Amino acid sequence: MQTTFRRILILFVGLLVPLFFACQSNSQVDAAPSAAPLLSASPAKLDPLPYDYAALEPYIDAQTMRLHHDKHHATYVNNINETLKAYPDLQKQSVDSLIQNLNQVPEAIRTKIRNNGGGHVNHTMFWQIMAPKAGGTPTGAVAKAIDQTFGSFDAFKQQFNKAGADRFGSGWAWLVSDRQGKLSITSTANQDNPLMSNPNAYPILGNDVWEHAYYLKYQNRRAEYLTNWWNVVNWQAVNQRYAQAQRK
Ligand SMILES: [Fe+2]
Repeated sequence: MQTTFRRILILFVGLLVPLFFACQSNSQVDAAPSAAPLLSASPAKLDPLPYDYAALEPYIDAQTMRLHHDKHHATYVNNINETLKAYPDLQKQSVDSLIQNLNQVPEAIRTKIRNNGGGHVNHTMFWQIMAPKAGGTPTGAVAKAIDQTFGSFDAFKQQFNKAGADRFGSGWAWLVSDRQGKLSITSTANQDNPLMSNPNAYPILGNDVWEHAYYLKYQNRRAEYLTNWWNVVNWQAVNQRYAQAQRK
């Protein structure tokens, strides 16, 4: 009797252990991508650049990076905190939430939150989707989606660069994804973010075409900046954002 029981036990453990490891392995493959961290408004903070100021040379020069991050981005962050001083309830929300629900922000500060909140969210993404020793052809799921949507990476770049070149004055060119992973190219003025007008247009890649992003090195030659910028695109980060777009 004891022998039979032992055999059943061995059989049970023998079946259970591989099943346990199979589940572990599947859970790693199928694990949902982690949500993008939201930006605090209590207070808003400027994270350091994730690389050295000179790391994106020769495509983006160190002085531009220093001024862009330490002065322009810092100003957006300081302005958010200054604007929200008298609005403690709004400070409890994330900056991301504030800019996606601008009609719930009091009219007296709506434009300030739109411009400076958008500036903070946009630039935080911008530093992350660039990296030294990056660029090249896209990788991963986003590479496949770009080919399927636009025909080829070159055709996509052409359309994206046109969106950036055609943006009159200051703004951004974007590659956005909906929740189903469908891609499209768009452009916004000033510091507007695609999510302000369309909650199903999650930006996975964006290029800053404000003159402060390129003027010291490229002067009026925005098209040259747009072309060279592809040498610093961090496709790994873009793929992470593409996964985040589909879990929202
Ligand atoms: Fe900028």
